[in-house]
Amino acid sequence: MAFNHRNLIDITEYSADDLMLMLRTAERFRSVNERRVKKLPTLRGYTVVNMFNEPSTRTRSSFEIAEKRLSCDTLNFGGSSTSTVKGESLTDTVRTLCSYKIDLIVVRDKHAGVPRKVADVSGVHVIDAGDGKHQHPTQALLDLYTIWQKFGHIEGLNVGIVGDINHSRVCGSLIPALRTLGAHVTIVAPATLRPARPEVLGVEHATARLDEALPDLDVVYMLRIQRERLEGAPYPSLREYNMLYGLTEEREKLMRPDAIVCHPGPINRGVELDSFMADHPERSAILDQVYAGVLVRMAAMYLLLGGSDDGLTA
Ligand code: CP
Repeated sequence: MAFNHRNLIDITEYSADDLMLMLRTAERFRSVNERRVKKLPTLRGYTVVNMFNEPSTRTRSSFEIAEKRLSCDTLNFGGSSTSTVKGESLTDTVRTLCSYKIDLIVVRDKHAGVPRKVADVSGVHVIDAGDGKHQHPTQALLDLYTIWQKFGHIEGLNVGIVGDINHSRVCGSLIPALRTLGAHVTIVAPATLRPARPEVLGVEHATARLDEALPDLDVVYMLRIQRERLEGAPYPSLREYNMLYGLTEEREKLMRPDAIVCHPGPINRGVELDSFMADHPERSAILDQVYAGVLVRMAAMYLLLGGSDDGLTA
């Protein structure tokens, strides 16, 4: 099938067919990642710039591994070691990088909208690796892949997203992607951490009561409490948040027998997720999500740079 996207910045621009092509392509890269020589010549000759202006462990490392496995040349760039600290504008920085005849820029930034600006200025392919409170499309893809692998389908599943909805770029991509693929989405959060009108997010249900929501959920997706983005005090204390919204050993008894727990990381252990649940051998899909990050990022770069589903020989 044809893949007609130049960038991966706004996941709402992707149809159900586009998303499933991404997931099926990621699945074909799984075998490469499970053999002894984990490398393909597929993107040899292409140059990718990883422009990370905000801290990252999972996204940055999995993009770098994905790029190495596809044999492209890479430049890791960003943060306090660049000339932006001397006052250089984003536009001048991006134009400078593009002088090297690069092909793709992966952008992580604390400001929403930077990946779109980079795409407009550069004219090369751009992947949003998380921008402010806006979107995190490859996180949504790895979440979809993990859920698809666990259940064999996504349509009809009940997915509960629990926590700090208002500050979450994960929600900005995951909720529309789940809806596009036919999942039912419930948000579970105190009124101070979710929109006054949750229907604007496209979710079907919103509640402040985790204990009432848990028995209906196939996927319990716990969000990180983002201390760095909180202003004011949307809940009395982290201890109280854990009592009302933390996924604890006690609450595990309310879950469906085959329900799984997801979390984008990094985890605040003892706040949104107790270690019992984070490390639960049957229920926790968190390290599966991390692994899926390499597969979907290989798929995204491969498809954006012109690969097709029938041209992939892994
Ligand atoms: N989920 C996620 O984006 O994690 P990092 O901030 O470690 O990349």
